[in-house]
Amino acid sequence: MTASGAFGNVKEATDLVDISKLGAVVPKTITRAPRQGNAPPRTVETTAGLLNAIGLDNDGLDSFLTSKLPYYQSLPCPVVISFAGENADDYVSMAQSLENACKQDGGSIVAFEMNISCPNVAHGTDFGKDPALCEKLVSSVRNAISMPLFVKLTPNVSDITVIAKAAQNGGADAVCLINTVLGMAIDWKNRRPRLGNRMGGLSGPAIKPIALRMVYQVAHAVTIPVIGIGGIETIDDAMEFLVAGATAFEVGTANFYRPTATMEIVDALPAALDVLGANSVKEIIGSCQ
Ligand SMILES: Cc1cc2nc3c(=O)[nH]c(=O)nc-3n(C[C@H](O)[C@H](O)[C@H](O)COP(=O)(O)O)c2cc1C
Repeated sequence: MTASGAFGNVKEATDLVDISKLGAVVPKTITRAPRQGNAPPRTVETTAGLLNAIGLDNDGLDSFLTSKLPYYQSLPCPVVISFAGENADDYVSMAQSLENACKQDGGSIVAFEMNISCPNVAHGTDFGKDPALCEKLVSSVRNAISMPLFVKLTPNVSDITVIAKAAQNGGADAVCLINTVLGMAIDWKNRRPRLGNRMGGLSGPAIKPIALRMVYQVAHAVTIPVIGIGGIETIDDAMEFLVAGATAFEVGTANFYRPTATMEIVDALPAALDVLGANSVKEIIGSCQ
């Protein structure tokens, strides 16, 4: 799968990526109201990763429903719609609006990914840091819609398994982890933070060991599928996440510097499974001893 916010509007990538070979695409998170995002600069390259503080820049739900949804419904691969609310009621009503729009003809839309993990907007991680709030929110959204519901978790907590279990208790069909790791870059000569937002989320190869550790921990703590995200750029990275316990994985930052990364991973998967003497991905999930 491609990770939210790191694969544009999908359209831009279709010359380079045969999206029909992907498990799914996850477009940029949408919010009810249009958002301009944070002040620039919004991205900074770091030693082994990318710091971003985009701030959920998007055109809002109404524009999404009229101008983007029909395109996503027509794609030749499954699509998971990512959304974020400003409060619990907003999450519930956004989920209902999205599901209603898909009821006539969902087309390629197969699930929703609830983003409770954006570190770059005010209160973006409130529901992702407090297990009681998380469980209550997930349960409210779960009761309001019938389509599969994924919950995307933040690594910026002391024990992610507690939040993952809360999401499961609330009725999540899967948990996706991780979103970006809160970080900072400073231009010391000017004594100023490099990002307009001062702080941002770190992604890319730098966070892979953190993401892998969290996926391993969560896979041992919950019974629902875990979707692994964080620094995946090669087949080796993907295989590490699968044997750690991920049922699927999303590729984010790698799309920016190697737009063909997802295709390379898809093409290399059969040979990698052969190495383990496996006939399917299912056979290797969580097989790390
Ligand atoms: C520029 C940028 C924008 C992102 N926007 C979103 C977003 O809108 N919603 C979301 O859930 N995650 C967003 N993310 C986080 C990614 O989906 C992913 O969880 C994270 O980058 C870790 O994966 P990676 O190391 O493969 O990039 C964004 C990441 C980047 C780099």
